[in-house]
Amino acid sequence: MRKIDGQRVVADLKRLAEFGRYKTGVHRPTYSPADVESRHWLADKLAEAGLNTVIDGIGNVIGRNSGVQRRLLVGSHSETQPYGGWLDGALGVVYGLELARAFADDPDHGVDVVAWADEEGHYGNFLGSRSFTGALTEEEIDQTRGRDNGTPLREALEKAGFAGKPRDTVDPSRYLGYLEAHIEQGDHLEGSGLKVGIVTSIVGIWQYRITFTGEQNHAGTTRMAIRKDAGLALAKFCVAIDDSFPAICGPRTVWTTGRITLDPGAPSIIPGRAEMLFQIRDVDPAAIEHLEAKLRSMAAEASHTGRCSVAIERIRTGAPAVMDPGFQDAIEAASAACAGGRSVRMPSAAGHDAQVLATIMPAAMLFVPSIGGVSHHWTENTADADIVTGAEVFVETCRRLLSG
Ligand code: GLV
Ligand code: MN
Ligand code: MN
Repeated sequence: MRKIDGQRVVADLKRLAEFGRYKTGVHRPTYSPADVESRHWLADKLAEAGLNTVIDGIGNVIGRNSGVQRRLLVGSHSETQPYGGWLDGALGVVYGLELARAFADDPDHGVDVVAWADEEGHYGNFLGSRSFTGALTEEEIDQTRGRDNGTPLREALEKAGFAGKPRDTVDPSRYLGYLEAHIEQGDHLEGSGLKVGIVTSIVGIWQYRITFTGEQNHAGTTRMAIRKDAGLALAKFCVAIDDSFPAICGPRTVWTTGRITLDPGAPSIIPGRAEMLFQIRDVDPAAIEHLEAKLRSMAAEASHTGRCSVAIERIRTGAPAVMDPGFQDAIEAASAACAGGRSVRMPSAAGHDAQVLATIMPAAMLFVPSIGGVSHHWTENTADADIVTGAEVFVETCRRLLSG
């Protein structure tokens, strides 16, 4: 096995960040021209590293090493959030690329490397990894539309040049398991002076579309006493959630209203319709179920006592996942060898493709520190030295797992 080149890892990440560069971050939504270009660049890099590489019918870039007996699957996603960071996803893909180079001359051990499509949910959720594990149906693809512009997924795939290609699915017997590296996206590692997070579990993410229906009318002539203002009903509902959830949530439950739309959305019109996209996360699905029941009873009560009706539709039910204990031990041993043991076991409050892969094979993740705990923002960053240390720990983990 060759030694890894830490400076090359940083340079590759910087090159990848040029596709869709936005200030110090990246705007590279799934299937955008920048995303498609970056996937072709990655495919070329994986091929140069000796892997047999394809871009499949959902946009996954898959580099395979077919010459070895013992093999790991590694990777992450390569699209970004809107005006997001340069490392969320990219880090794990570029570590995979460096790993492929490190094992290039090894006749017995190796890795397949994947850049998953649409982990960030511009169209669906975990489209690429769910396609690979066989969980994404043709019917779901038919029905899926872009969350921002409503573009049908079929049309986006056609434009990207991926339509008509086969969607590759996994043969789990090919792999010892799946390993993904990622930035932490929180401030725990930085705050504790640690270099590696060993992920124990990944949160479940449930998402809702909550719709308020009132009556559109003139903002000047309609008396306050008779208005049915859907926007106001929505605002009150958000406050009611924040008032009631803390008393019944789990210790690490989080909830977010990520998008509010008022219809028709003009200053001189009382909104007749309002919509919020709302998300609840917890590692315990029972805790989420409990909050969902509360949400539904609040909606029923608001419809009954208020001036607008409230409807709740669950649009995403992402299962949490537990990471493989043996793989966690391997990351810990590698951290002892390469990072002075400055590691900690911790749950992930962010979603990751590893939770999809965990449904069919042992899966694990390691985190590197995020400066200031910032992510899903263009200022997201990690010190170069921490990127390099993480790469060394990642490669050492794989070496240990592959050599048994
Ligand atoms: C993944 O990016 C998430 O939103 O957790
Ligand atoms: Mn993300
Ligand atoms: Mn990510």
